Amino acid sequence: MWILGIDTSCDDTGVGLVRDGTVVVNLVASQTLLHQRYGGVVPELASREHTQVIDGLVQQALEEGGIEAPALDLIAATRGPGLIGALLVGYTYGKGLAFALGKPFVAVHHLEGHIYAALAEQPEVTPPFLALIASGGHTHLFEVRSWGNYQLLGATLDDAAGEAFDKSARLLGLGYPGGPQIEQLARQGDARNVPLGVPLQGQEGFAFSFSGLKTAVARAIEKGYAPADIAARFQQVAVEHISQVVTRAAQRTGLTTVLVTGGVAQNAALQAHLRASGLRLLFPPRGLATDNGAMIALAAWRTQAQHPQNQLELPAAAYLPLNRTA
Ligand code: KG4
Ligand code: ZN
Repeated sequence: MWILGIDTSCDDTGVGLVRDGTVVVNLVASQTLLHQRYGGVVPELASREHTQVIDGLVQQALEEGGIEAPALDLIAATRGPGLIGALLVGYTYGKGLAFALGKPFVAVHHLEGHIYAALAEQPEVTPPFLALIASGGHTHLFEVRSWGNYQLLGATLDDAAGEAFDKSARLLGLGYPGGPQIEQLARQGDARNVPLGVPLQGQEGFAFSFSGLKTAVARAIEKGYAPADIAARFQQVAVEHISQVVTRAAQRTGLTTVLVTGGVAQNAALQAHLRASGLRLLFPPRGLATDNGAMIALAAWRTQAQHPQNQLELPAAAYLPLNRTA
């Protein structure tokens, strides 16, 4: 079974091909350079760029996959959440293609895509498990009880984890996206030199908070601490905070398998810290942690490939809680 997956929820055009649950092609046209000079994503520019590249990228994916469009069995695209103008480009393209080919069209929730990306090379793992999505736009912790059954345990009260990396990087005069830059600078610094507290220390629940941390970074810069030391401490504290919430959720639910996905999952300090917890951790393979189309095809494969319903009538949605997905 061949599934084409499309994601245009934010600033990257993602097109992927999955055959019987295995990723065959994963193409991402990055818009990083386009938005870099603005220090963040400009929605109008993102939509325009998606429109320019989507068709060529789909053709390239089919070529690389060695199949013709009529051989596709199913077409899946991200319905939401995301920037509505950006979402509409890939979603409408996917619907049009499905309609023209007479194939089922499946609407996928962006966060479901992130979750199943972590299982791309571990098809034997089955629910229940915990899933942490830490990206530029989301920080959500779910309990996945069965395929397609998600219980939200906690989310960020303010900024997303990746957003905190991006904003702190900007304050430190580093480029965008900030996560990898902070990670690199932190290697040269000593976290012990900067007094920065772990957010929500002593809480009972599963909430995250990163905006205070960003403010604390601004203060530390004003006070003249060395940028590398600030980066090191910021990263340490962010990682500690995420780990505390995840390990508490594992203890409370009794679940010992944790999927960690989204751009921040690539952070080596986070991976090392979580690995020390003794939990069974699953991270997405290279290229599947950040936004991409293959993860959308994987989610469609896991949740809807058995009995695909044509979802051409469902509208795209900028705001879309995961438990209300079709
Ligand atoms: O998953 P993604 O493409 O974003 C959304 O779907 O929103 O991830 C991008 C985010 C950015 O905020 C970026 O700074 C962060 O992931 N990121 C990292 C690292 N690599 C990317 N954060 C920390 N450490 C990294 N190595
Ligand atoms: Zn994402």
